[in-house]
Amino acid sequence: MFKLVILISGYGSNLQQFIDHIEAGKINAEISAVISNRADAYGLKRAEKAGIPTLTLDHTQFSTREAFDHALAKEIDNYQPDLLILSGFMRILSDGFVKHFQDRLINIHPSLLPKYKGLHTHKRALQDKQSQHGASVHFVIPELDAGKVIMQGIVDVKVDDSEETLANRVHQIEHIIYPKAVKLLLETQISKEQMPVKIYLEMSAKQS
Ligand code: GAR
Repeated sequence: MFKLVILISGYGSNLQQFIDHIEAGKINAEISAVISNRADAYGLKRAEKAGIPTLTLDHTQFSTREAFDHALAKEIDNYQPDLLILSGFMRILSDGFVKHFQDRLINIHPSLLPKYKGLHTHKRALQDKQSQHGASVHFVIPELDAGKVIMQGIVDVKVDDSEETLANRVHQIEHIIYPKAVKLLLETQISKEQMPVKIYLEMSAKQS
């Protein structure tokens, strides 16, 4: 069985998808641990409810980014995960950390990369009057949000979308593509040349 370690900072709705997919036997893996850099992350409660070991490593208690990342890597190495999954983990990771977990470190980002790296992606997509927006699962490399894209979920932008309605729709497609991408990486021999896989979210009027 494959082993996953999941890093979070907040709500953990993507984490919940992994928990649900594994419990339903849709992904052949176990979540060895959920680690948060914030003690108040709601995702920790989700993990505890599912009986998954949790750990909080508060980044404010470390004097440098490197010191925090070193301690974090040490904790993760205890579990020797097949995949290290960033799931709303809102910290930039140092080059040393990223290289240590190279090719088994993935992230989900709320935009159609390479568009809108960094923050405020929904606002920027609306400002630019994009007709489509979405989310990307990608390998993490030292350069921010620049690693090879594995899977993208695409949503239409509606004329009356606010940042909130668009963010909600992107979240829905995230919940579809992140478990699919993890399953693809763990259970198939997909090559990097076959990536990214693109999935389009068709929404009925009721869902939107
Ligand atoms: C997700 O929308 C994810 O794309 C974003 O944080 C949210 C976490 O939601 N990640 C980033 O912006 C990383 N740069 P969740 O805690 O409900 O899974």
